[in-house]
Amino acid sequence: MRDLDIERTIEILNRIMEYELAGVVRYTHYSLMVTGPNRIPIVTFMNAQAQESLAHAQQAGELITGLEGHPSLSIAPIHESHQHDLRALLEESLEHEITALNLYKDLLDVVQDASIYLEEYTRSQIGAEERHVIELKMMLRDYSG
Ligand SMILES: [Fe+2]
Ligand SMILES: [Fe+2]
Repeated sequence: MRDLDIERTIEILNRIMEYELAGVVRYTHYSLMVTGPNRIPIVTFMNAQAQESLAHAQQAGELITGLEGHPSLSIAPIHESHQHDLRALLEESLEHEITALNLYKDLLDVVQDASIYLEEYTRSQIGAEERHVIELKMMLRDYSG
């Protein structure tokens, strides 16, 4: 086992927390912007993503506190594209999920072989974000044909 770089771990967890909190705002916004015949299922999907993002932010925050760090009070910047057709919402969601996935991968580089607990947490988060990416790619598939 390696020694855990606690400072770097807290730093990445804080970036994850800020990004997941931005996800709460982003997906809540999207849920309010969906119109058209697919509104009902997509609103449900966006609300579920907002709730999951909050749960992920809280989990990251708990880990920061556990490591005696200070959880951030900020959220990551969110770009308003003013594109609110369904395809744009889904494409931006996909981009968001890929960025989240990459943050967890950055965390894995730091925690793997240094903390079993944090490594398992990070791997399961990577799994969750990979599932979101797959889901969004499936939702976008209709549009590319
Ligand atoms: Fe997440
Ligand atoms: Fe996600």
